[in-house]
Order: sequence, then structure tokens, then C-alpha cells
Amino acid sequence: MQDLLPDWVAVEVAGEADYTAELLPAEAAGLSPRAVESRRREFTAGRSCARRALGRLGVHGHPLVPSENRAPLWPDGTTGSITHTGGYCAAAVALRKDVRAIGIDAERRTVLPTNVRGAICLPEELAWCDRRGDEDWWPAVHFSAKEVVYKLWSPLVGTWLDFLDARLTIDIATQSFEAEILPEKLRKSPGAPSHFRGRFHTAPDLVRSAGVSTA
Ligand SMILES: CC(C)(COP(=O)(O)OP(=O)(O)OC[C@H]1O[C@@H](n2cnc3c(N)ncnc32)[C@H](O)[C@@H]1OP(=O)(O)O)[C@@H](O)C(=O)NCCC(=O)NCCS
Repeated sequence: MQDLLPDWVAVEVAGEADYTAELLPAEAAGLSPRAVESRRREFTAGRSCARRALGRLGVHGHPLVPSENRAPLWPDGTTGSITHTGGYCAAAVALRKDVRAIGIDAERRTVLPTNVRGAICLPEELAWCDRRGDEDWWPAVHFSAKEVVYKLWSPLVGTWLDFLDARLTIDIATQSFEAEILPEKLRKSPGAPSHFRGRFHTAPDLVRSAGVSTA
């Protein structure tokens, strides 16, 4: 994930030990007692990676408690993002003096069902995907990039953002994307950027996307 982000963002990708690391008591309290084993493992790996990355910024031993909207509460002066998807987990953190928000996302590179594509992509985005021919996984790239947009939007604005509220322009040559927030009302929200930029990478089994907001 570091390849998609500036080098002043500290990124850690989980190894096997992160999935069984010890949670701090406040973190454990943030995990539902009914959480299934797979949820417990991904929650733990995300926290373990995030705390290791924070350590590289000089912040040690701070519990990463989920807020009401599930976003982790980052230590004062820092911000970050966590992602996990079957067997891959990463965390990215940075100092608030360098960045307002970070978003990272990883998804399996699957062919999304038609109804899901329609819920994620605008008609013009679907048309763009259709022009990619056999590469029928481009809607999954849209999905991943839009989750990055949400992870940037959510801490900055604090409100919900629907998949169809943002229009992506993907540049395959530079493996980058730009997202434009479409509804006028949302663009006028306090603290809301109208555009977000990010980068993506596709491998046969995994799509990764990331972006930062400095605006
Ligand atoms: C919140 C959401 C983006 C998480 O994405 P996901 O693919 O399900 O899961 P990921 O593994 O990539 O990310 C999960 C992590 O994101 C973080 N997260 C959750 N809610 C968040 C929020 N509101 N803001 C920022 N980060 C958030 C958490 O750290 C979470 O992991 P944890 O619960 O173990 O701490 C997704 O579930 C969602 O609600 N999406 C709908 C909104 C959206 O994407 N709109 C598109 C706008 S263009």
C-alpha cells in the first residue's frame, strides 16, 4: 500500500502475527462480544498494523477505539485509515500537520454482479467499464476507489456519502483516479472538498486504492 501513498504516510501491511496480536483493553471493548472469529482477526490485525505505523511517527501505546460511525479514533495530531479483505490487511497513518485525511481500501478483484455494479457506478462509469472489454473487473476498481473517497469524506464532513454521489474519472496510464462530488448540497457541506484524488493498483486477485486529502 505504501506504493500508492506519499512517503510521509507510514504504512504497515499485516503479517500472520498481526491477526492474533493482543488488543489493548479499550480496543477489545470496542469489538462486539458476538463478533465471529474472522471479524475478531481482521479487527485485531488492523489495530496491530495501525499501532505499529503510529509507532513509526513516535506515538506509542494509544488504543484505537471505534467511533460511533466505525471510524477509528486516531490519537491527537494524527489521522489514518485501515482496510482488510480476506487475507490482506493494512493501515496507513500520518501527522495532521501533513494531511487532513487518509483513505485506503483493498478488495478482491472479482466480477461484481450486475445489480451491485448499478448500485456503485453511475451510467457513464458503467459505459466506461464496458469499453474495457474482457477486463470485467473495472467496477471492482470503482468500488474500491469510492470506498477510499468515503474514508476521506467521512472524517472531514461527518456525513454519509452514497456511491452514486461521486463520479470517478480513471486514468489507466497513471493508475490514478479523480472523484468529483456531484450533489450541490453535499459540495456546500462545511469542510467538504468537491474533488478527491487517489491512486490504485490491480493484481489478479487484489485491487488496492488509496488517497490523501490535504485541502
Ligand atoms: C465503511 C466502509 C467504507 C468500509 O469499507 P469495507 O470495504 O467494508 O471494509 P474495509 O476493510 O476496507 O474498511 C473497514 C475499516 O474502515 C474503517 N472505517 C469504518 N467506518 C469508517 C468511516 N466512516 N470513516 C473512515 N473509516 C472507516 C474502520 O477502520 C474499518 O475497520 P475496523 O472496523 O476493523 O476498524 C464501508 O463498509 C461502507 O460503509 N461503505 C459505504 C459508503 C461508501 O463507501 N460510499 C461511497 C462514496 S463515493
